[in-house]
Amino acid sequence: MPRMKIGSTEIPDANIFEIIFENFPDMIHSVDHADRIIYANKKHEQVLGYPRAELRGMEVRQLYAEEVRDKVEAGFRTLKADGEKTVESLLCARDGTLIPVEVRSFGIYDDAGTFMNTFSIFRDLREIKALQASLIHAGRLAAIGEMASGIVHDINNPITTIFCSDDLALQDLDRFSNDPVALREAMSRRLTDSLRAAEVIRALSERLRNFARGVAEKRVPVDLGDLLAEALFLVGHKFKELGVTIDNRVEPGRCFTLGAPNQVEQVFVNLIANACDAVAGRADRIVRLEADAAQHEGVPCWRIRVNDTGPGVPPGMSEEIFQSFFTTKERGKGTGLGLAMARGIARDHRGEITVESLPGLGATFSVLLPRLEETPGRAAVQTGANPGA
Ligand SMILES: Nc1ncnc2c1ncn2[C@@H]1O[C@H](COP(=O)(O)OP(=O)(O)OP(=O)(O)O)[C@@H](O)[C@H]1O
Ligand SMILES: [Mg+2]
Repeated sequence: MPRMKIGSTEIPDANIFEIIFENFPDMIHSVDHADRIIYANKKHEQVLGYPRAELRGMEVRQLYAEEVRDKVEAGFRTLKADGEKTVESLLCARDGTLIPVEVRSFGIYDDAGTFMNTFSIFRDLREIKALQASLIHAGRLAAIGEMASGIVHDINNPITTIFCSDDLALQDLDRFSNDPVALREAMSRRLTDSLRAAEVIRALSERLRNFARGVAEKRVPVDLGDLLAEALFLVGHKFKELGVTIDNRVEPGRCFTLGAPNQVEQVFVNLIANACDAVAGRADRIVRLEADAAQHEGVPCWRIRVNDTGPGVPPGMSEEIFQSFFTTKERGKGTGLGLAMARGIARDHRGEITVESLPGLGATFSVLLPRLEETPGRAAVQTGANPGA
């Protein structure tokens, strides 16, 4: 590494440098072989608040925050040997203000290569750090906004379930007005459905609250077969209304993963709802659910496949469809958040969602989730309907 030299022949006019140093917009100081300050510029005096007369002869470590002083000393040793160093550090002004800085330091050597002193330029990072913090905050707010839109999207299905159950309950009141046993049985069924859906809404709002607070949801052993059955309950109103046949080949008690049950269930709800929309109005309206073992990035996974007999994903769109707010559905029918939410959840669980599709031949969405090898006891397994039970 080239070393700076100081000597009458290499510095044509020392005054020029003095003027530059004095008026330089960053703090500059020079430290001798005994780590004592021998020079500081005007900016240094202004920012740290030490008069130059007081600075001269002061141990350089005193200018740094307590917690970085050991690092500074080690840094000086390597600087003397290496000749050059750029680090981020923390200065402490005379009044105790902590000032984050970027320090670029150079060792200065005589003609014989003997170390004479160091020369450091300090860039005050306070404004940059404040900007960074406000950017992080803005990013977080944007993420919360997107999450909130997603939750509103996901609340749609359980709300429809509640409306349908309540509507049916009202009809049952008339239908079974002369048969108290049948009425009781019908009411119990409708109210149970309504409560299940209300529980999903509660879990969704809790998810948003946890996200805003930065609290991670608890991961527990979950049975993917159970979660699929629960998801089918939540989109039941949709596939019945559209006349879709569901061919569910995933039996409970076989595929387990470690996850947040409500979130994983939501992935299936979104994919099944999309598949139902895709087959709506077609001659064949079949949605098939299957599971098999697979690998994702070297990790053994369960692959849950949601296959439909719809028109397929338009060519070249298989990545775009996962972007937030991408939708091909008419206004009022789709927000374009279902797949973005689903993929976000899958990735959060160290999994993935992929799609295979041929135009006119339907689409298959695959959810990959790390396999839980040991089959957990029944009591340990949770579904979205009994969080924390
Ligand atoms: N099974 C499918 N077959 C064909 N295209 C699909 C299928 N699933 C999703 N897509 C395409 O991906 C787009 C995005 O899906 P996504 O679920 O993110 O939003 P959406 O269904 O349009 O609206 P919503 O926010 O209400 O879910 C859909 O508009 C559609 O074009
Ligand atoms: Mg959707």
